[in-house]
Amino acid sequence: MIVNSWNEWDPLREIVVGSADGAHFEPTEPGNRPTIRNAPVGTPFPTGPKSPEAIDRANEELAGLVALLESRGITVRRPDPHDFGAPVRTPDFEVPNQYCAVCPRDVMITVGHDIIEAPMSRRARYFEYRPYRRLVYEYWNADPRVTWTTAPKPSMDDDMYRQEFWDWPVEERHRRMHSFEFCITQDEVVFDAADISRFGRDLIVQESMTTNRTGITWLKRHLEPRGFRVHPVHFPLDYFPSHVDCTFVPLRPGLVLTNPERPLLERDARLFHDNDWELVDAPQPTTGNDEMPDFCQSSKWLSMNVLSLSPTTVVCEEQEKPLQDLLDKLDFEVLTVPFRNVFEYGGSLHCATWDIHREGVREDYFPNIAYRPLV
Ligand code: ARG
Repeated sequence: MIVNSWNEWDPLREIVVGSADGAHFEPTEPGNRPTIRNAPVGTPFPTGPKSPEAIDRANEELAGLVALLESRGITVRRPDPHDFGAPVRTPDFEVPNQYCAVCPRDVMITVGHDIIEAPMSRRARYFEYRPYRRLVYEYWNADPRVTWTTAPKPSMDDDMYRQEFWDWPVEERHRRMHSFEFCITQDEVVFDAADISRFGRDLIVQESMTTNRTGITWLKRHLEPRGFRVHPVHFPLDYFPSHVDCTFVPLRPGLVLTNPERPLLERDARLFHDNDWELVDAPQPTTGNDEMPDFCQSSKWLSMNVLSLSPTTVVCEEQEKPLQDLLDKLDFEVLTVPFRNVFEYGGSLHCATWDIHREGVREDYFPNIAYRPLV
């Protein structure tokens, strides 16, 4: 089997690594209000293509990751070129350009032998599955056991978004932290693949700016008949949640790297406590928020966005010494690559990849569970 991946840590055999070719600045749209770091409020965010230098710097670091993975005998595939400068116009919306193919994790996910294309939450990312279609066809043609699922595309019309979200003052966000309502409404199926984390039979899905409860219901109805259990998870102190892989990062059976500033809601944590999983806080990142690249929309917690090559080997950003020391103490072999020039494209090592094959089978890591399926 080529397509076989049930969790985030089993021994890695084949993976897709993103590319910065053709990357553009993400446009301002109802689901995204990009801002420049360390710039006066109101400074307009750039538009159009990223500079050739910025693209080269990111591509060089992505190539470094590819070389490291290949040196470990892992097959690496890359996305196809795509015209991210092309505007998108549907009956419901229009955006002046698209984004990039640096973060396959956000749009593609392998669940066992099923490849799922996420519907996505942002207009500029509506067609982001396209650079991966040739690969999907290749895998799908190569093995009749591979299934391929595209989740329903939402309209992304104005009504799908809650625009006031962007204007709520911090006190309002604090007051609403347990309502888990963000910039998308609950009317349509919306999720980004990176809000999902796979634990064998169980998957957690974060409710966020990029994934709503209707999206989680769709995932439940798709996956429960196939023997999976889907658990919504919440991190009330993250007022701008998007993609769970800088917040809650499983490293091996029984161990999750957690974000000390974004604790898991106690009710959701029971699953882990009742099954003797250990949650270990990541150390503070070595970047202050102000040392992150100016155009990066993610937080300093990209530090904990590590990529597991096996339950004993993990790839970590080169400068994150405190995290490397922690992983070392937890008995991991720690490999490092420089990756900070990739940050402004929305992610680090886990985001910039999509695993196709990890050795292993579906296991139940949560035998102690009270789970109520939808039907
Ligand atoms: N919203 C996250 C943070 O700032 C970044 C997540 C990036 N992950 C990804 N798959 N693109 O902490």
